[in-house]
Amino acid sequence: MQRDVIRTKNFVAAAAGIILEEARAALAERGEFRVALSGGNTPRPVYAEFGRIARDLSWERVRFTFGDERCVPPDAATSNYRMARESLFEACAIPEKSIMRMRGEIDPPLAAQEYEDALALLASQHGETIYRHDLTLLGMGDDGHTASLFPGTAALEEQVRRVAANFVPKFAAWRLTMTLPLLNQSRRVLFLVSGDKNRQLLERILAGDSEFPASRVEPANGQLSWLIGERA
Ligand code: 6PG
Repeated sequence: MQRDVIRTKNFVAAAAGIILEEARAALAERGEFRVALSGGNTPRPVYAEFGRIARDLSWERVRFTFGDERCVPPDAATSNYRMARESLFEACAIPEKSIMRMRGEIDPPLAAQEYEDALALLASQHGETIYRHDLTLLGMGDDGHTASLFPGTAALEEQVRRVAANFVPKFAAWRLTMTLPLLNQSRRVLFLVSGDKNRQLLERILAGDSEFPASRVEPANGQLSWLIGERA
């Protein structure tokens, strides 16, 4: 695994540029770009900027998946799908077939199984044993979680399933999430950490403190990148 830490005062532009760079490389090499989107708030301006600079991309050859989703309907204010739709999908008229939405509105274990099966079918169609993203975008929570792999929760320890329903006690709510076996299959993982994030926590994670789920993302045969926004 290669790791790089990029610190920048131009966080949004740098993040969007990396995504576009990965998209062009994947499309050139494999004719498709498989990207897993992160949720939360940090990515919103990044997705908008990516959509602005990637206008000419062959969106029909891009497949958007989600690293995690809240167990809410797609039009709920907290839906990661809604955030991506508002910041990117609508602006670029992304075709529906390019978007694999996690169905947060149905029974969580059923939704997880459905998503896992869909990824497994795509992988098998390409002769792969496990779906391999070209780029997985992730965030860092204030407790060191990433995707919806929270400290002390069952999905964090999942070593077989690729997608899991995860009950998160701190929210008393279910989440859907990709698990470490799937995340670590990615050709590249890009953590997006804006300038307002806890610096001590970030440094502990960068030092590999396994107390934090984000430290456990280590793409076996891939690149791990941390893009860190510096306060202007
Ligand atoms: C989610 C995310 C989650 C997020 C972190 C950081 O569904 O919330 O996938 O892992 O990336 O919580 O969130 P912010 O970017 O909002 O700080």
